[in-house]
Amino acid sequence: MKREIITTADGSKTIQIKEWNEQYHSKHGAIQEAYHVFIHSGLHLFKNCDLNILEIGFGTGLNALITLMEAEHQNLSIDYTGVEAYPVSKEEIGQLNYLKELNALSFTKMFNEMHASPWEELIPISPKFNLKKQQKDFKDIKDIAQYDLVYFDAFGARVQPELWTVDIFEIMLKAIKKGGYLVTYAAKGSVRRAMLEVGFLVERLPGPPGKREMLRAKKP
Ligand SMILES: C[S@@+](CC[C@H](N)C(=O)[O-])C[C@H]1O[C@@H](n2cnc3c(N)ncnc32)[C@H](O)[C@@H]1O
Repeated sequence: MKREIITTADGSKTIQIKEWNEQYHSKHGAIQEAYHVFIHSGLHLFKNCDLNILEIGFGTGLNALITLMEAEHQNLSIDYTGVEAYPVSKEEIGQLNYLKELNALSFTKMFNEMHASPWEELIPISPKFNLKKQQKDFKDIKDIAQYDLVYFDAFGARVQPELWTVDIFEIMLKAIKKGGYLVTYAAKGSVRRAMLEVGFLVERLPGPPGKREMLRAKKP
């Protein structure tokens, strides 16, 4: 499917899939959404510890970049697994403006290394952040009790309903450690019910700009 770079309301770029009228991030602000959903509602639950994170949809690497930037502030040692079936190209990465918008040009080398790093290997990107990119379908995740936190950042249920089902959340529940969390920008009733059905405890939280609510699920 054809992908195009567009600018969101906070000035940060994202990728749009025209055919689906779907974006990699919110049109109301890619960076704003990423901080609100994944950092403030997820990562900030943890401080001064080792942390295993799974990202559902590595995409542009924005969530990985801001997580790496936060690792230092929160004194976290992070192993980050990013699963992605359809990697973004070097040309597309070159058109994104995250480092400039985040005032983080000093992270340029690390951001480039994240994208250039080989798949399926755990690679040190900084002293506090190791990255393992896995090129595969979300359905093929078989990890058991491995992650403290999942960033569930799949395309919306409108375009990929098969990724917001009991089957997928069962895979997520298995992959998460007891007491671990999953955060997502989604707030749909059917998504919440699928999470509850597999055994997650689910909270509705205030959503990022442009969305009333989002969901945070905990493995009991
Ligand atoms: C909303 S975007 C992710 C945005 C990403 N977190 C970022 O910060 O750029 C969803 C991602 O899921 C990937 N994807 C879609 N279907 C998939 C599948 N069945 N298995 C693995 N990856 C998939 C897409 O290629 C896309 O990169």
